[in-house]
Amino acid sequence: MAQESVSTKMESAKKKTDPKMKKLRVAIIGCGGIAQTHLNAYKEIPEVEIVAGVDILQERLDVMQEKWGLPKEALFKDWKEMLKVVKPDAVDVCTPNHVHCAPVVDACNAGCHAMVEKPMAMNPKECEKMIAAAEKAGVKLSVGFQQRYRHNTAALIEARDNGQFGDIMFVKVHALRRRGIPNWGVFGQKALQGGGPMIDIGVHMIEAAYELMGCPKPIAASGNTWTYLGNTDSKTRCPWPGWDWKTYTVEDLAVGQIRFDTGAIMQIESSFAAHVPQELHNFEIIGTKGSCNWDTGEIFTDMHNTMVNIKPAFLGNSDWLYLFRTKLNNWVQGCLTGSELGANGYDGLNVQKILDGIYRSAAAGKEVTIK
Ligand SMILES: NC(=O)c1ccc[n+]([C@@H]2O[C@H](COP(=O)([O-])OP(=O)(O)OC[C@H]3O[C@@H](n4cnc5c(N)ncnc54)[C@H](O)[C@@H]3O)[C@@H](O)[C@H]2O)c1
Repeated sequence: MAQESVSTKMESAKKKTDPKMKKLRVAIIGCGGIAQTHLNAYKEIPEVEIVAGVDILQERLDVMQEKWGLPKEALFKDWKEMLKVVKPDAVDVCTPNHVHCAPVVDACNAGCHAMVEKPMAMNPKECEKMIAAAEKAGVKLSVGFQQRYRHNTAALIEARDNGQFGDIMFVKVHALRRRGIPNWGVFGQKALQGGGPMIDIGVHMIEAAYELMGCPKPIAASGNTWTYLGNTDSKTRCPWPGWDWKTYTVEDLAVGQIRFDTGAIMQIESSFAAHVPQELHNFEIIGTKGSCNWDTGEIFTDMHNTMVNIKPAFLGNSDWLYLFRTKLNNWVQGCLTGSELGANGYDGLNVQKILDGIYRSAAAGKEVTIK
């Protein structure tokens, strides 16, 4: 018996809205951890009806039936079969990174809009395939970046647009965990995820920083990666112990530098495991007229011949569910009304070029060109 069905929750929302409201029939592909957050967020988007769930694991499909109220005939182990039988309007892809490109391309070819979780794919070539499929089909493809929807990001973008920073010269990005190797999913396997902390958590800070920079063209990358802890049977006490160290092939620490066509430089440090004093997810931007701290929204500049630090008095709530509801709703409205997407395929591709450049440079042992 369903305890909390998306469609039941939606019923009450529907009553308060136009009964002729256009609905988007969404199928979830990959019903694991992050899909649960998506489903919670969809409860607050009345235009969405969840029509199918796809997962290779039966226990994940059971959750879709028992917790989210989907009937048995809406549950599939193969997305191709689901696309044929259910014919959804849209798919929301929440699978591991190596299963992002194929379901998105198949869904677009079937005329469906697509949302894909971050990172967009394993590499830029896959992103290009996904963009081409979406463009050919004339459907909306969005990438699940949520940090751009934080109130601090929005406030700083407005400051940038008002000339507060002048020319942006340098961006310093941190996505550092002291010991935070995921002990679920396949996050430790390079062949299935494309990399470790740089592609998994670095991507969040990179995309927000890149957006705030105004999306200049990345032209070169230099970086390195190190694996020294995740592949050992470590006994150190930590919040997520017991990861699969025997299959761990991703980096513990990655450091990179990106050069943009504007002359700006972005430096990135990202770790699942590093001997740093504390966890840090933030970035700073230094411009000719002012600088900022992303997390606090503070601006550092000169005013009335005085160096000042400007601290926001109010920014608003940017909690986890708010961010997911906002990013998913942006895509849903794009699908239903044609409105512009916050993060489209090209945003995903540019971020992927940055990630890929750092990994390529690490493998080559020298600076590499980004095209
Ligand atoms: N935006 C965010 O903040 C955020 C947070 C966590 C995860 N993610 C992203 O979401 C994706 C999934 O991460 P997760 O933590 O939910 O992982 P997870 O392992 O909990 O869930 C992935 C699910 O996909 C299923 N799956 C694997 N191969 C499949 C296939 N061929 N067909 C159908 N289903 C398949 C797995 O069985 C599993 O249930 C990753 O790309 C990750 O980077 C994003």
